[in-house]
Amino acid sequence: MSASSDVWFPRLAERAQAGPSELSAVLALAAAGGDLVDFSGGFPDPALFDTRLLAETAAKVIETEPGIALQYASNTGLPGLKEMLRQDIARTQSVTPAEDELIVTSGGVDAMTLVSKAMLDVGDAVLVEAPSYLGAFSVFQAHEGRCLSMRNDEHGLVPDSVLDVLEDAQLGASRPKFVYVIPDFQNPSGLRLSEERRERLVEICRRHGLLILEDIAYRDLAYDGSYYRSIYEIGPDITVQIGTFSKTFTPGTRMGWACGPATVIDAMAQAKTNTDQCAGALGQCILESLLREGHYVAALPGLREAYATRARALMAEFDAQLEGLATWTVPEGGFFTWLDVPGIDTRQLAEAAVDSGVAFVPGAPFFADRKRSSNLRMSFSRTPTDRMAEGVARLVRSIESARA
Ligand SMILES: Cc1ncc(COP(=O)(O)O)c(C=O)c1O
Repeated sequence: MSASSDVWFPRLAERAQAGPSELSAVLALAAAGGDLVDFSGGFPDPALFDTRLLAETAAKVIETEPGIALQYASNTGLPGLKEMLRQDIARTQSVTPAEDELIVTSGGVDAMTLVSKAMLDVGDAVLVEAPSYLGAFSVFQAHEGRCLSMRNDEHGLVPDSVLDVLEDAQLGASRPKFVYVIPDFQNPSGLRLSEERRERLVEICRRHGLLILEDIAYRDLAYDGSYYRSIYEIGPDITVQIGTFSKTFTPGTRMGWACGPATVIDAMAQAKTNTDQCAGALGQCILESLLREGHYVAALPGLREAYATRARALMAEFDAQLEGLATWTVPEGGFFTWLDVPGIDTRQLAEAAVDSGVAFVPGAPFFADRKRSSNLRMSFSRTPTDRMAEGVARLVRSIESARA
């Protein structure tokens, strides 16, 4: 029986009646496993989780501080972890948030949810990159926000396109509540925004009184270990920065944070009392211990090398097999490459490709208006390098039969 014919379906809230997205359909197919070469989800490689260290640390915090690790925490996070996070933010940025400018969240999506609850009224506009992380669109739209697209080119976001949206009739008289940007090894394009463009974006947003929501999920994963100045560093007065440990530590612990102007962080903390009340204390204690003892930072070079190796292997296969059929971005960090396959609707291609044994995510859901159809995202973060040649060969065959 399909969900829509169930007796409870008409009783669902309207927003829940839309049903699963096309992305869920592709991910469900990909989850089928078997011989599939999977380039779909942006998952860290579980082989890179230091399970022994995690098990020892979990046992230690449970045994030594059960009244903290197994108890409710404050809605802004445990003080010990917050202190470690302030130091970790200052490790790569020339700015340290004050105690009341920082909140611990249950991962990056929770931080976006709290910002949305704190900032968005019905119909408020949010400016997003084109393309951008579709999970963020889903959060903003679930809070009745309207996602309006800025413009991206082959170097990432074009900052001056903010001005075009501000002049667009779609916006009406209202001012957007915030501008959502992923400057480092973006999801889905894999691109890193130049410091000049970051500075220009801050300049424009400051002039127009716009808050920037900076998502730095992949910041620690430059393959050469380099860091660009963050948008928060350039404009701390107009930026809420969101970080997550899902890509560099474990998504299973659901650990993230947000820092920014105290008024916004306080409103996010109030909103948290209406969601999960606090991020899980056990995960917070484990993360605090790993940060305090230097294990988190010590693990980064190994992660960077592992993901760089995969990126290189996939790029070599693209050069060997995909030339003339598609164009692609060459990532210098993170998990993703973004392809353009001219003349092909990648939604149909994705379905045919799964039948041929390779999975990726079609591009349309990464655009707020879902209009562009010839792009696709491939994540190489957990695809074994020895499966890449076969995966790309299957992709090539799918493209060729779609063109035939
Ligand atoms: C840019 C970006 N932000 C946030 C997230 C989600 O973070 P979390 O799993 O911590 O909620 C992702 C995951 O794919 C992402 O790519």
